[in-house]
Amino acid sequence: MATWSAPGKVFLFGEHAVVYGKPGIAMAIKPRVYVTVRKGRRTSEMKSAYLRECFRQMDVKGSVYIRSQLTSASGLGSSAAVTIATLSAINDEFGLSKSKEEIARAGFEIEKKVQMGLASPTDTYVSTFGGLVLVSQDSRRRLPPMNLPILIGNTGVPHNTGQMVSRVRDMMRDHPGIARPLIDAIEAITMEALHSLEDLRKVGWLMDVNHAILDALGVGHPSLTRLVVAARAAGAFGAKLTGAGGGGCMIAICPPRLKNRVAGVISACDAAATITTVDTDGARKERNG
Ligand code: MEV
Repeated sequence: MATWSAPGKVFLFGEHAVVYGKPGIAMAIKPRVYVTVRKGRRTSEMKSAYLRECFRQMDVKGSVYIRSQLTSASGLGSSAAVTIATLSAINDEFGLSKSKEEIARAGFEIEKKVQMGLASPTDTYVSTFGGLVLVSQDSRRRLPPMNLPILIGNTGVPHNTGQMVSRVRDMMRDHPGIARPLIDAIEAITMEALHSLEDLRKVGWLMDVNHAILDALGVGHPSLTRLVVAARAAGAFGAKLTGAGGGGCMIAICPPRLKNRVAGVISACDAAATITTVDTDGARKERNG
């Protein structure tokens, strides 16, 4: 029996712009998914297509038990975390000796297959390696570790990543004169943030501007803007939606002494608040028991 876990992620900056080859900054977060895999003569019935695909692609048989601190379909990369933790546990239980790079690559292929072609390598990479990651066209690079406290607010409004990506694509096609400069501005925000991550006040301001642009691109949602405005009013340095938008989660960056107050205000808006920081471990082995 082998138990492994893998973290979720948030986009700090650059979601949607990354689809057009622009850079983005993603961060692994503390909440994670725990997966126990046990060898068996047959593969037990699995409801999740991600799990079935992990066993099929690794060509092994057995059973799996999952415990998650991440809400699924909330934009926090829970499917990638499940996939990476499962592949890592299979790798250990069956002694397959796959490297982390191989696990991340296999995880991406599985996400792509299950999501019918719609997956970015960001979620699986961040979940495997942890940390802060600069995502650009064909590469992902870990940034130096730093303590970046953030607050996540989950609107609980279901969203559809494919629909949101299509909405931006339609605007790029129908109104390039408007949409392109917005995507270029997100790139400029990401590049400025990259050199200012230690200045929480500036990071907050950049988040505010990034949120306004994502709203202008049509991927906002009243429930997200409500939380973003409430967080700012409670003293956050800044806030924005994170991930695909249209529902799902927002993030805020706050002065450390105000984080509980901002979390309280988010909860008072009927949203789930999580105070967290960067996870630097990525996929890791847990003690069985
Ligand atoms: C979704 O979490 C982020 C998007 O940029 C899509 C992607 O990067 O695959 C909207």
